[in-house]
Amino acid sequence: MLTEVLLGILLILLLWKAILKKPAGLPPGRWGLPLIGYIPLTRKSMEEQLDDLNKEHGDIYVWRMGTQVMVFLHSYEMCKEAFARQEFTHRPDWLFFNPTNEKVALGVGGSNGPHWHTNRRFTLRQLKNQGMGKSTLVSGIHEQANMLIGKFQEQAGKSAAVPYAIRVAVVNVIWHMVASITYDVDDPKLKEFMQLMDDFGEMTYYSTFLDIFPWLRNIPAFLKNRLFALDQVEITDQKFMNYFYEVIKEHKSSLDPENPRDLIDSYLLDTEGMEQEEVIRSDKDLALLIFDLFFAGSETTYSTLTFAMYYLAAFPEAQRKLQEEIDRALPGDVLPTLEDRASLPYLEAVLHEVLRMTSLVPGGVQHCASRDTHFAGYTIPKGSIINTAAASIHYDSRYWDRPESFLPERWLDEEGKFCAKKEGFLPFGVGKRVCLGESLARMELFILAVAVFKNFTISPPPGTLVDVTPSPTQPMFHVPRKQDIYVTARK
Ligand code: HEM
Repeated sequence: MLTEVLLGILLILLLWKAILKKPAGLPPGRWGLPLIGYIPLTRKSMEEQLDDLNKEHGDIYVWRMGTQVMVFLHSYEMCKEAFARQEFTHRPDWLFFNPTNEKVALGVGGSNGPHWHTNRRFTLRQLKNQGMGKSTLVSGIHEQANMLIGKFQEQAGKSAAVPYAIRVAVVNVIWHMVASITYDVDDPKLKEFMQLMDDFGEMTYYSTFLDIFPWLRNIPAFLKNRLFALDQVEITDQKFMNYFYEVIKEHKSSLDPENPRDLIDSYLLDTEGMEQEEVIRSDKDLALLIFDLFFAGSETTYSTLTFAMYYLAAFPEAQRKLQEEIDRALPGDVLPTLEDRASLPYLEAVLHEVLRMTSLVPGGVQHCASRDTHFAGYTIPKGSIINTAAASIHYDSRYWDRPESFLPERWLDEEGKFCAKKEGFLPFGVGKRVCLGESLARMELFILAVAVFKNFTISPPPGTLVDVTPSPTQPMFHVPRKQDIYVTARK
């Protein structure tokens, strides 16, 4: 009898050690149960809980969510060190990064290894060839800026939502670089595209469950579809792919090898990396690469512009200062070129402060440990998901004086010159996978913001306030709330 009891205790201890106990060497944090991880019983938001964990455990801790070992980094220095390392450059094997569920993820934003490396180099080179960070793209952005001014003009003297044209302007800049296409605001084909982007954004919410609890992928299809709308996700993905396949087909039929027009032509002619087995060149890969550019580059940019309008409506003194600067630097009807940046330091400061305060991607875009790695005194097991607590770092008093305050002045030196402070600022990520459209986003934000604030004043609708806090509808991204603004023409 005694032997059975002892064996029973031994078995329980072994089970506890093997299954329930957090493996030795991991950072401190929440572990929970196998398959489901640690499910908190609290009404606190995710960000509030991360702040609590940061206070309790310091700059690195772990939280097992479902089967995913999530490691959170709360210091700028740690993020810099981690994301400079090859071992933390991979993306997780998630539907979010591989929406069409390929054997290996394609495109650029979710792919890994030599395929990612080749596509990243190619995309960066192409965006630069198409004018990213250069004056050659400025006239294309001016065209969109003028369209935007027209739409704001129509809205002058009224309370209404930020015009849809702002999305069109940003999306058109990407279409121009990718496929030499510029859509008219009312083009039904563009409306179809925008709808697909919205549908896809909503669907990611469902697929996140399957990424956190991958064993749910094995439940019967009818239940999966019921719970996670997987059939709808597939339909939306296919519609998206078909949209891009059509544009690729048109490009193939008019391709002139001597005169590549845009990113699609260049991809069709590109052979870089083809000698490596892991590098794939296909219509699907190209379609997913284009998809990545729209998904990563459109909502981020127009959300930042919308937030900038909300902040300047909420802080009219900052808006007045900005307009004075624009009037001084750019008299008359001209729109800015890249050379005007030096004479618009307050604008640069406002945009940086908006990027800091809004932290569009509050938990960063996930990376994954490609092997067991020793980091910050701990062992991070292969497959762990590495998260940047960007929103927390952007409000950390180690880097920011009065972090809760909207203070564009913090970006200016004593002579009023803009200084791009780097410590503690990572809205575009950091390291080997840093945003590859950063210079494009900066160009667009700069030119489109001048177009708006040179010609219009944005205020809250009479008798109301503008809410600058992010919408609660999207837990993974900070998007602006849907609300009205009041537009007054300045001339
Ligand atoms: C305000 C605007 C933008 C913000 C805040 C932003 C932010 C980010 C962040 C945080 C990442 C993840 C970095 C990481 O994994 O560590 C990222 C990646 C990426 N961004 Fe942006 N982004 C913006 C605009 C753009 C634009 C305009 C484009 C291109 C059209 C773009 C294309 C990409 C791509 C392709 C990646 C994936 C890079 C890779 O995995 O190698 N982004 N961005």
